Amino acid sequence: MYAFNMMHRGNIRVAILVAVLAVLVSDGFAGHTYKPCRRICKREELRRKCKNICALQQGYTCGGGCWKRCLGDAGVPPKFALEPCMQKCTRSAGSTSPTEKCIPIDIAVIGGGIGGAYAAWKLKESKQSIHLFEYSNRIGGRVYSRKLPGIDYRLAEMGAMRFFPAVETREGTRGHVFVTNAIESLKLETMDFQDYSGDFKSNIQNNTFHLRGMHMKYIDLGSSRVPYNLYHDEIGKSSIQLRRKIYEASVPNSDSGDKKLDKDGIELFKQRYDRIWRKYGGSIEAIEYVSDVLGFDVSEENAASNVPVGPSEKPYDEIRVKTLRNGMSALPLTMIKQFEENNSERHKVHMNHKLIRIEKQGENELLTFQKTTTSNYITSDTKEQATICAKRVILALHRDALMEIDWQPLKNQKFIDSRLNAVYGQDALKMYLGYEEPWWEKLGFTTGRAVSTLPVRQMIYKGKGKPTSYTSKDVNSKSMMLVYSPYPHASFWDDSLLDSHLLATPLATNMLASEYNISETILAEAHNQIAEVHQLRPEDLAKPYTGVMHYWKQGGPRGSAFYSWKGGADWENISKQMIKPIEDENVHIVGSCYSTHQHWIEGALTSVEELLNMHYNQQNDTWIENKRVDRRRRGVYSREYENIPRWT
Ligand SMILES: Cc1cc2nc3c(=O)[nH]c(=O)nc-3n(C[C@H](O)[C@H](O)[C@H](O)COP(=O)(O)OP(=O)(O)OC[C@H]3O[C@@H](n4cnc5c(N)ncnc54)[C@H](O)[C@@H]3O)c2cc1C
Ligand SMILES: *[C@@H]1O[C@H](CO)[C@@H](O)[C@H](O)[C@H]1NC(C)=O
Ligand SMILES: *[C@@H]1O[C@H](CO)[C@@H](O)[C@H](O)[C@H]1NC(C)=O
Ligand SMILES: *[C@@H]1O[C@H](CO)[C@@H](O)[C@H](O)[C@H]1NC(C)=O
Ligand SMILES: *[C@@H]1O[C@H](CO)[C@@H](O)[C@H](O)[C@H]1NC(C)=O
Ligand SMILES: *[C@@H]1O[C@H](CO)[C@@H](O)[C@H](O)[C@H]1NC(C)=O
Repeated sequence: MYAFNMMHRGNIRVAILVAVLAVLVSDGFAGHTYKPCRRICKREELRRKCKNICALQQGYTCGGGCWKRCLGDAGVPPKFALEPCMQKCTRSAGSTSPTEKCIPIDIAVIGGGIGGAYAAWKLKESKQSIHLFEYSNRIGGRVYSRKLPGIDYRLAEMGAMRFFPAVETREGTRGHVFVTNAIESLKLETMDFQDYSGDFKSNIQNNTFHLRGMHMKYIDLGSSRVPYNLYHDEIGKSSIQLRRKIYEASVPNSDSGDKKLDKDGIELFKQRYDRIWRKYGGSIEAIEYVSDVLGFDVSEENAASNVPVGPSEKPYDEIRVKTLRNGMSALPLTMIKQFEENNSERHKVHMNHKLIRIEKQGENELLTFQKTTTSNYITSDTKEQATICAKRVILALHRDALMEIDWQPLKNQKFIDSRLNAVYGQDALKMYLGYEEPWWEKLGFTTGRAVSTLPVRQMIYKGKGKPTSYTSKDVNSKSMMLVYSPYPHASFWDDSLLDSHLLATPLATNMLASEYNISETILAEAHNQIAEVHQLRPEDLAKPYTGVMHYWKQGGPRGSAFYSWKGGADWENISKQMIKPIEDENVHIVGSCYSTHQHWIEGALTSVEELLNMHYNQQNDTWIENKRVDRRRRGVYSREYENIPRWT
């Protein structure tokens, strides 16, 4: 399929060369370089030591990279064994120059998450050859919808589950502009995230906030009875009032002027949120209270992304959001479908391809992929590799995926420290439990969520909404509850032994298999905690008839649920620099990880928009080789969304 793709370039010499190469290397394809490393391995005494490594080296150039690495890994001193190999490599490579042999595609998009899918979709009318590579057998990445048996009214969103529709206000556009535009042009059907019928605020007033073992109601939250040892001037304040208090104390002119510096003249981004909190008179108990009530931990975050609190900011629990009727996955899936259909000659999607290496080759980038296989939701490496050359590479990846790629800049500790590690990962667990009836409605909870400081953290009621006559036998009243446990509580639910998938977690009866299975022990523990939060005895709480979970865990291609800027990270600068991190390489990094809206799909789309704005000319479908991008250029989009909460 790669060969077809190149033919249209119409270069006869190239075509002949490809034909010759195709005969020489039957397991190869065009766009790669022929390397005889494996054959050499067979002949040399190194054979045994290098066998495994060489088997994995078929995508290698013979410029020395292969053998140096091969021998390095095998622990053989180069002077004893490298030379004979190198001679062969060099001789065979000498007949044609590397650039002639590497026939590039125009753009390789790495990662089939929403960032990669959006980049491909935005470029769908491009005449350039664009190939997208995804590690697993699934498009969507952290956008991932599953269906529970018997429940048709909404999907179980294992990743992203909601968005803020864009609205025009007098202060400008508010909400997720790119997400809203994409949903509209893809003609996807939206619906309310939860039941907002009637008086939503009063419908959630009795919802449980189970803090430090004490059962409270939502309406009691600002009261003096909360179980936290607050400072005198903090008592009786709501979470928003506490955050607003720190904001007013810490910046010179809270609702006008520059909000970048605190009263000491120090940039907010240089500080952690809890440090600002302390410096301007807040108690640690109060910031814990804020995190506990929110359901997300804010203390470690970069102060610049948390300090500002508008005078009319809505309490988190009262914000209304939307979701997609056919699941959030419909967003990336429809994008990819249109991308492929629009130009099926030149646009291709390759599933189960994990990028493992990037090497500069002349003007191009030589990419090596480990082919993977997915079964039972688990993706693992095969022994097969593939290579391709690309003029331009768009890495739509988060930090943990980038860290695993063998790429020169990632051998530079300064780049790792100051760029890649400017963010920290936050794991999260999502566990959906399906019940025969929405038992919570009998307790007076119809919508919204319950919050607890137990590891279950947030229990989101996902009943059907509207009149639920679960008493009538013939009406399907099956309903689901989402247990949402973000950092730092998520790891409580991690049953997987270190990184090993060798030890399968046995699935509890009736639960759905997944990358992380709901075991009997996990199910029993979740059940006990849900009962405790709802003040029921475990034996009085209904048992779920189905369920599925996903744990977004740091490390590897899947990575954490969220990435947040560390205190100290100059994130407005870094988010721009990551778009083209290395001056003389046409490699771009996009995705929500290094964006200005990290916890949202919108962040991934924003970064792609920035990339296209800065480097792509849509009118004539060419790339702009603007080598000196003005780093100081202010974010075009970052200021529009001030009223969007940071927490998903
Ligand atoms: C639990 C949870 C709840 C969330 N809630 C919301 C929400 O309600 N609303 C919202 O807007 N956002 C939400 N988010 C955030 C949102 O899901 C992410 O910000 C967004 O999906 C990230 O997209 P991305 O393309 O940047 O990264 P990813 O989705 O992580 O995409 C990366 C892709 O690259 C692939 N990959 C990795 N390594 C390689 C490799 N070497 N080669 C090839 N492919 C590779 C991965 O398999 C993956 O498909 C939530 C996230 C989580 C986890
Ligand atoms: C909340 O509880 C109060 C007191 O028990 C009750 O009067 C009110 O109707 C309840 N509200 C809802 C929405 O259930
Ligand atoms: C490609 O996209 C354009 C613009 O969205 C559309 O008009 C055209 O019909 C699409 N072509 C195909 C083959 O889908
Ligand atoms: C999950 O359970 C299924 C079915 O029992 C099993 O095949 C699979 O290996 C399990 N997965 C994990 C990650 O333990
Ligand atoms: C495409 O547009 C850019 C920027 O306007 C311009 O520099 C370039 O010459 C154009 N290329 C072609 C082929 O028209
Ligand atoms: C951000 O980048 C600009 C341009 O490179 C630089 O002048 C400025 O000092 C940077 N900001 C900080 C705080 O480093």
